Amino acid sequence: MAIVGTRPEVIKVAPVIASLRRAPDRFEVLVVATAQHRELLDQSLSIFQIKPDIDLNVMQSNQGLAELTGRILAGLTKILKHETPDIVLVQGDTTSVFAGSLAAFYEKIPVAHIEAGLRTHNKHSPFPEEMNRRLTTAMTDVHFAPTPFAKSVLLREGVAGNSIIVTGNTVVDALMYVSRLPCSFSKNGLAHLDLTNRRLLLVTSHRRESWGKALEHICGAIKDLVARHEDILVVYPVHPNPVVKHTAVKVLAGIDRVYLVDPLDYTTFVHLMKQSYLILTDSGGLQEEAPTLKKPLLLLRDVTERPDGFVAGLGRIIGTDRERIVRETESLLNDHALYQTMICTANPYGDGRAADRIAGALWRWAKGENPLIPPADEFDPQCNQDQ
Ligand code: UD1
Ligand code: UDP
Repeated sequence: MAIVGTRPEVIKVAPVIASLRRAPDRFEVLVVATAQHRELLDQSLSIFQIKPDIDLNVMQSNQGLAELTGRILAGLTKILKHETPDIVLVQGDTTSVFAGSLAAFYEKIPVAHIEAGLRTHNKHSPFPEEMNRRLTTAMTDVHFAPTPFAKSVLLREGVAGNSIIVTGNTVVDALMYVSRLPCSFSKNGLAHLDLTNRRLLLVTSHRRESWGKALEHICGAIKDLVARHEDILVVYPVHPNPVVKHTAVKVLAGIDRVYLVDPLDYTTFVHLMKQSYLILTDSGGLQEEAPTLKKPLLLLRDVTERPDGFVAGLGRIIGTDRERIVRETESLLNDHALYQTMICTANPYGDGRAADRIAGALWRWAKGENPLIPPADEFDPQCNQDQ
């Protein structure tokens, strides 16, 4: 049973569902949507042509974490009792992941965690995702670590080595698939986007710890940057969370060369990333996607659970101070040599084969075999030069 709740979960689980479904003699896949997100979930499901078998439809406007957790836990428990799957798959760090693992644990059903082992070691940032990951690890039986570094984190926490496999991040698989789909910007508020002689800055921000002052600083910095640089244009697809939308519209609505648009479907968003000069974000997934598309990234956060690309110099963690955002962005707008040093030649996050590794390991797990993957088949960033 694959559980999905939000946009990034669908994007990152879709390749796994596809891989499992390519082997119907081995797997029967049941997709359960908690629908922690509604519109964003449906938008992503439709790109990958996934129709959930069961939909809990839990989203409420401005939902609180406790109520959301309770609704998902109760809903999933009923489904687990009825369906009794052999294993539950969860992906990432959302409330759906934590409540899904907890529901499975209560029903004594094994859990496989995709994208395991990411940590900031700061329980308040990202909030509540860091704690969701740690708690999910404690309930997980099979850990799909995206990178060797994530595996090393799990080992340090005492997770048994033979229950961890290094897969690469499934987002790279998704990105490669979607990159091949046709796309036009004639909809989604981008019809009049003209990039002739302009450099595109793509911005997203939605994290709970950024609500309020930090998001005001981010938006203020965007305002400063377009005022100071005639040749830049900003596209900011605004997350539907009312708190985020309120600040973005308050500071940026009506400003020349700033496109505040509704969330873009994944195909359009990926093609826009390809057209961008620079990505500014606090998103988790974009940290893996930007290097895959060879785009430098400025991270609007103080800490990351995905250090691999930053250690390799492909991005910078710049926080949320308005002046610092302007300064760091300008250094990349003005310094071509610096910009070039941040173009990825060896993707540390994945090679597009994560989903097949996961399906293979699940089959070996079902047969009681060990190791879950032949060691030579694990994802190795060292062997992933310029794919
Ligand atoms: C959630 C995840 C976060 C993830 C993000 C991806 C948790 C606690 N947070 O944050 O880890 O990075 O999704 O986007 O699991 N809303 C809509 N329509 C939608 C989606 C959201 O209107 O399709 C609005 C609703 O008012 C909802 C609010 O956004 O109550 C917050 O949604 P929620 O899933 O609780 O938190 P996110 O900030 O989206
Ligand atoms: N994304 C999208 N449309 C948008 C903005 C983002 O399809 O308008 C994709 C993005 O490419 C990435 C995922 O959504 O794969 C990230 O989701 P989000 O930032 O909401 O969550 P996070 O990754 O921070 O958990």
